[in-house]
Amino acid sequence: MKSNQSNIKKAKKYLNKNYCIGVPTETVYGLAANAYVDSAVKRIFNLKKRPKNNPLIVHYLDIDSLKRDCLINDNFIKLYKKFSPGPITYILKLKKNSKISKYVTNNGKNLAIRFPNHKIFKELLKQLDYPLAAPSANITTKVSAVQASDVKEEFGNKIKYILDGGKCSVGIESTIINLIGKPTILRLGGLDISKIKNIIGFELNINPKNKVAPGQSRLHYSPGIPLKMNVIKPKNDEAFILIKKRKTKLKNYFYLSTKNNLNEATKNLYSCLRKIKNKGYRSIAVEKISNRGLGKTINDRLQRASRY
Ligand code: TXA
Ligand code: MG
Repeated sequence: MKSNQSNIKKAKKYLNKNYCIGVPTETVYGLAANAYVDSAVKRIFNLKKRPKNNPLIVHYLDIDSLKRDCLINDNFIKLYKKFSPGPITYILKLKKNSKISKYVTNNGKNLAIRFPNHKIFKELLKQLDYPLAAPSANITTKVSAVQASDVKEEFGNKIKYILDGGKCSVGIESTIINLIGKPTILRLGGLDISKIKNIIGFELNINPKNKVAPGQSRLHYSPGIPLKMNVIKPKNDEAFILIKKRKTKLKNYFYLSTKNNLNEATKNLYSCLRKIKNKGYRSIAVEKISNRGLGKTINDRLQRASRY
């Protein structure tokens, strides 16, 4: 945790001037700007090369600051009490008099919101009088950033500042739940959906192709080289990703976890993909990962990455 008060002050200075900066969250790093200012929000889209019809998530400190912009409902309150701050994003209706820039939602009437659980990000939000729009801090379709150096790798000198908060503790994007009408899951993520089901009281429909989550496009989370899943025996020259330790000294074996621990594997997934790419491998094979709990999220990302 290299950020201290003076770094937070710097971050604040850039944000107040409507620049974008890198910020740490518990899921992945974000590319943040003032959600109330059109020019600031437009900069995010340009930097990320993001289509303008793909809306952004807005980050708030707490429910009180959110109430200025969104209408809340009972399911939201139940989930908020249990899981926020944390790796869950809610889709709610925007208030008519909300100050959110129309570029955040591409003129849409619904807003994706999240309460990040990272000490430094929370401290920053506490000191601002506006919420922060922030997509994941990667170029569109590429692998998300889970440490400050990854953000630097993605954007170089194009961004003014990165607030360093160490390595992300969850390591994968938030779970997105649409709370307008009957709740549905729009993106699998860092919060296991069986936990959400226990609070909501029924099985949630997973609808990743839903039109309102345009970010879940075919090409996504791509390490830029071909990836194959459920591989038993990799080729000699390809990187092999495993979830439990094997007795071998082969250099092309990369472990997400040594003991089949899905939390650990989630945390290591993106940095592992980035490392393999940077080592110059031309293709990736992944052993079978069980499709339970966070394994579902890992497999979702690997499937998308495999469509390269
Ligand atoms: O963990 C996370 O959610 C990270 C950190 C930085 O908070 N953020 C993140 O943002 O993953 P991004 O922009 O990479 O992904 C947001 C997803 C996109 O698929 C987008 O289409 C969807 O959320 N989304 C945003 N606003 C929406 C809305 N109003 N309705 C439906 N989907 C929305
Ligand atoms: Mg993203």
